[in-house]
Amino acid sequence: MRFSALPWRSFPRTVASEKKIPLSGKAGTYGLSALSPSLSALSVPPKPLLRCRASFSTLHDAAPPGEISLPGVEDEMVGYIFGKKKATDVAHSVWKHVVRRGDTVVDATCGNGYDTLAMLRLVADLSGKGRVFGMDIQEEALTNTDSLLTQSLTPSEKELVKLFPTCHSKMEEVIPKDVLVRLVAFNLGYLPGGDKEISTVSETTLLALEAAGRIIEPGGLISAVVYVGHPKGREEFEAVQAFASGLSTEDWVCCKLQMLNRPLAPVPIFMFKR
Ligand SMILES: C[S@@+](CC[C@H](N)C(=O)[O-])C[C@H]1O[C@@H](n2cnc3c(N)ncnc32)[C@H](O)[C@@H]1O
Repeated sequence: MRFSALPWRSFPRTVASEKKIPLSGKAGTYGLSALSPSLSALSVPPKPLLRCRASFSTLHDAAPPGEISLPGVEDEMVGYIFGKKKATDVAHSVWKHVVRRGDTVVDATCGNGYDTLAMLRLVADLSGKGRVFGMDIQEEALTNTDSLLTQSLTPSEKELVKLFPTCHSKMEEVIPKDVLVRLVAFNLGYLPGGDKEISTVSETTLLALEAAGRIIEPGGLISAVVYVGHPKGREEFEAVQAFASGLSTEDWVCCKLQMLNRPLAPVPIFMFKR
């Protein structure tokens, strides 16, 4: 599969040209231990240091410094516990407490663009400083994302999103080196409504997590929603879990939310950098 040049995209130096991305990473190099800390210790991120006043009234305002404010997370968590909210709702809600207007964030798996749009709504401000770098290996996914953004955003808001037809393991090649990244989000698995054979795989997911760990700023978050119900999903879940478990407790707070009697339910995993 080749990606055609579309005017709205910025192209990376490396372009994924095949359905299956070449695998160069080592799988299973992380010890399988319990995540640290467990669900009950879902971390409260530090308060934002900066607060941009913007008149995008429908967009997100981060909590002011010194104030503990988690009403959104609380509602989503309770909804999730009672089976009323999805794993992605919880993830979006956690993002709101980490991401501020003007931040740079990365959607490592654009898919149909819902996460990309949610991220843009968090970072967009009138200064035009906020950025979303999005990537996917499938042209169909980037086309779907582009359509959703066109329908949902003004042209100037859409300008803040850069889409790349590339593997997330190569995210450092498309994100400028001097940029601090507040959030890298993974929504793993296959494109809903697309070819189920084209899915994220443990090897490149692990490389991407390592890359995310290098570019994320202190106070930032790596967020992953992992689907265990599809072929290879369980293996990928074990790999992400092992990666998170292996991060140092000095620098990272990691947790997962897992349904006990729904073994195939997607699992949100959060890696917060202190
Ligand atoms: C579950 S979907 C993402 C859903 C999406 N975030 C949304 O809001 O609709 C997973 C996506 O990951 C993409 N993907 C698979 N392997 C990838 C890789 N190595 N790098 C980047 N994207 C990949 C798939 O093409 C698919 O579109």
